[in-house]
Amino acid sequence: METRNSRLFSLLDGKADAVVIVNSGDSHTDHNFKYFTRAKSGIFEGSVAVVTARGTSVVTSVLEAGSLKGLDVKVRTVGTRKQFENAVASLTSRFRKIGINAPSLTYQGYRALRRSYKGKIVDASEEIAKCRAVKDRDEVRKIAESCRIASRAADRIPEMLKEGMTESELASRLSIALYEEGSEGPSFSPIVSFGKTTAIPHYFPGKLKLKKGDLVLADFGGKYEMYCSDITRTYMFGKATERQRLLYETVKSAQDAAFAAIKPGALESDVDAAARNVIDGTEFKGRFIHGLGHGLGLQVHDGGPVLSPRSRDRLEEGMVVTVEPGAYVESYGGVRIEDDVVLTRSGCRKLTDAKRDFIEV
Ligand code: GLY
Ligand code: MN
Repeated sequence: METRNSRLFSLLDGKADAVVIVNSGDSHTDHNFKYFTRAKSGIFEGSVAVVTARGTSVVTSVLEAGSLKGLDVKVRTVGTRKQFENAVASLTSRFRKIGINAPSLTYQGYRALRRSYKGKIVDASEEIAKCRAVKDRDEVRKIAESCRIASRAADRIPEMLKEGMTESELASRLSIALYEEGSEGPSFSPIVSFGKTTAIPHYFPGKLKLKKGDLVLADFGGKYEMYCSDITRTYMFGKATERQRLLYETVKSAQDAAFAAIKPGALESDVDAAARNVIDGTEFKGRFIHGLGHGLGLQVHDGGPVLSPRSRDRLEEGMVVTVEPGAYVESYGGVRIEDDVVLTRSGCRKLTDAKRDFIEV
């Protein structure tokens, strides 16, 4: 049976005998640690995972060992720096070449590894990313649950909208709804914007108050057993003008065109173009100012597929991507609609299922 470990080593094809994932402090932990241990919670600061084709061994502290209980990994719990270095040395000394994940390894982490291991070190990041890009059944199950949770929270937004509320208030209500629906927390700080600020794709919510005639954009996601969802819905507070409705329906048609284009073997740039051509065929030409989507998994931007005009790669069955066309008119407003899909044998299956019609509240 293929496991994550055996899959990685068939991609490595002899390039390394083991892969060592080294975590430093909280902001420099490598999500591959969670991937190869299958941990459902934990931060794993200052921990190391030694990954081989047959299994995973971990060196960690007493603080994190509890999160690894019951998992199919060998755990060595250490206290001092010397014990840590000795444990890593004894796990790695028999290997001639070890692979590292260079983009996530700090200089401090590299030096610590070098104190324990004197053999050859190679960068295995490309093979690790390839391995992560295609999700296994367990991962799809977790992402799907994360998406269901976020969709239920999204469907509660219309009833949350009250004249005079601030963007920050809506962001905080949305975060509470995520917890209430079964998430272990937001997958990123929610983007919530009203009226003119909906034209800024990566806006942070502030003190702006909701008034009649505003578009309302909410881009957020939750986590379930560490796996992320990422969804965007845009609503109308009050009655929409013809132009606001046209803006919404244009973006929705662009998303439909993208769904139809997503299938194994499709060029990622062609999928982006399918959506972009719809928007560029209207008065909103040139207003779709970002890529169509990105891979989703343990991270919100999970690497792997990138749906953009610059992509050169093709989609594969088992990949999970966001599909998030948008059109933004400066000082007026913007619309983005984002759903998450998994690639099936012949197309894609939507994992988010929140209402997608233009809703006037
Ligand atoms: N959800 C924000 C983004 O994908 O950029
Ligand atoms: Mn996204």
